[in-house]
Amino acid sequence: MHPSPRLEERKEKNMSRVKELQKKVHSILEEMPDHNKRAGAIAHLHGVALAAVMIAKKRGENAELAAMAGLLHDVYAYKSGSYEDHAHKGADMAREILTEMDIVTKDEMDVICSAVYHHDSKADVDGAMDEVLKDADVIHHSFSDPTKEVKTKEKPRFEKLCEEFGFIV
Ligand SMILES: [Fe+2]
Ligand SMILES: [Fe+2]
Repeated sequence: MHPSPRLEERKEKNMSRVKELQKKVHSILEEMPDHNKRAGAIAHLHGVALAAVMIAKKRGENAELAAMAGLLHDVYAYKSGSYEDHAHKGADMAREILTEMDIVTKDEMDVICSAVYHHDSKADVDGAMDEVLKDADVIHHSFSDPTKEVKTKEKPRFEKLCEEFGFIV
């Protein structure tokens, strides 16, 4: 399959897809009326994206796709104001956003949307990039305020991450 003309043009100009997606996500979240909630949403999405990059680099996974999955993973929940089935619905929304932006290949789209789709299934083990995103979400939940107790449902995953990364807690 040939990449789309837009994808080729962007590659020629050496524009960062992560930057482009950051801008897009910011523009979507601009609709959130509550300033504090909007700031918290952006902090979480950027925090998860950063954690996802670190985890991907440690595990030899694609760091760019990890960053993009992190940026997109909770956009649906923030935009709709509902966490009801937000991972599955969020995967559909991520697909719409990425299709409209025309910045990924079909295979890349599938990797990113699978990670978003599975990210709330923290008790299951899924594909490599799915696991990167779940772990990044747990890292941000647990370390954005390190004085807070780790959520019970995230503890097993958090403990494995402490072992993998040598965190002293
Ligand atoms: Fe989520
Ligand atoms: Fe999240």
